[in-house]
Amino acid sequence: MNNFTFHVPTDIRFGKGQVECLPAELSKYGKKILLVYGGGSIKRTGLYDTLVSLLKDFEIFELAGIEPNPKITSVRKGVEICKAEKIDVILAVGGGSCIDASKNIACGAFYDGDPWDLVLDKTKVTKALPIAVVLTICATGSEMNSGAVISNEETNEKRELASDLLYPALSVCDPTYLYTLPEKQTAAGSADILSHVLEQYFQPNDEAFITDKLSEGVMQTVIKYCPIALKEPENYEARSNLMWASTVGLNHLLTVGKGGAWSCHPMEHELSAYYDITHGVGLAIVTPAWMRYILCDKTVDRFVKYAENVWDIKEEDPYKAANLAIEKTAEFFKACGLPSTLKEVGIGSEKFEEMAKEAVRVSGISNRSFFHLQSGDIVKIFESCEN
Ligand code: NZQ
Ligand code: ZN
Repeated sequence: MNNFTFHVPTDIRFGKGQVECLPAELSKYGKKILLVYGGGSIKRTGLYDTLVSLLKDFEIFELAGIEPNPKITSVRKGVEICKAEKIDVILAVGGGSCIDASKNIACGAFYDGDPWDLVLDKTKVTKALPIAVVLTICATGSEMNSGAVISNEETNEKRELASDLLYPALSVCDPTYLYTLPEKQTAAGSADILSHVLEQYFQPNDEAFITDKLSEGVMQTVIKYCPIALKEPENYEARSNLMWASTVGLNHLLTVGKGGAWSCHPMEHELSAYYDITHGVGLAIVTPAWMRYILCDKTVDRFVKYAENVWDIKEEDPYKAANLAIEKTAEFFKACGLPSTLKEVGIGSEKFEEMAKEAVRVSGISNRSFFHLQSGDIVKIFESCEN
């Protein structure tokens, strides 16, 4: 195994009714809260009213309308409020988009320039406001990690900001909040969780047996419970297992001893940067195409492990096993109602080259990933899932 440090300071409060802890926990930071939320689901579900009544002794300022694939323009508005009102703590209520915007706001509040500078250069992050989270969709793991993915609509860039200062201090994860998720978000979130684990699992270092075993369990959890949650939205067992899978899927636990750079995420981030599609939908399209493209003598052994341990495929011929596992992965996404071609989400070939070059420029896909891909390879992968 590679050397590693593992220090995740987030206090997780998991389960029904855990939101009750907020007044006591938030009062540790002060009285002024910036409440960050999205396009209105929390008002429709009644969570907004619950929070306002629980936090009646606090002074609440609001930043509503955080968009999926959160934009730097929204972050700028939040930073302005924090500076003008001397906010003590940020409360992000929603999913990855609200949490990520909050992370950029939290460090932007202590920075004199444009918060986009911090996305481009994380060494400029020197201080951040504390962040608390109430999670309403399980997907990104942002509730227990140090990353934030922010989009700049002027430049078509979608980039990751990461700093140890950006771990949420507290995350309330109540699986009953997932009951109201639309099917598309349940499916896309599950695709995202599966992809996070795959990205960490498909890495050159083969010695982190314990990490691989944990990863296989998380992948099987998603494969088992996503279809149940789609059929029975209020199935607590399914929702709670998926919710914890999302947190464990990207809180650094499944990367320890392995490391390396990712492949499907840099490709998908270009699709959602240029076309504003749902992140998990883009991953469901790109992932099987990436698997088919990279299957070769150098990679086949890892595919066999994935086939045997995740999909229970018993097949002597390694290539047959690998191909069966790839098709099982593609079928899983399809059965969850996710698209499998770029055409289905309105993406044509016009920007394939531009997006491929950008993916290489901003990530380690060409030199540190499981199977190094240059921009020409990425164009071929995009082409293979065009129709
Ligand atoms: O905006 P509202 O009205 O709240 O509706 C949201 C939004 O439209 C809706 N929703 C959330 N909870 C709901 C609900 N609707 C009904 N009932 C509920 N309980 O779901 C929609 C999607 O929300 P969003 O926060 O965008 O989803 P997600 O958690 O998938 O976040 C996606 C963003 O996170 C980034 C993605 O690129 C994307 O920008 N990522 C962040 C990562 C991280 N910080 O570690 C890693 C990931 O790989 C990813 O890149
Ligand atoms: Zn993701």
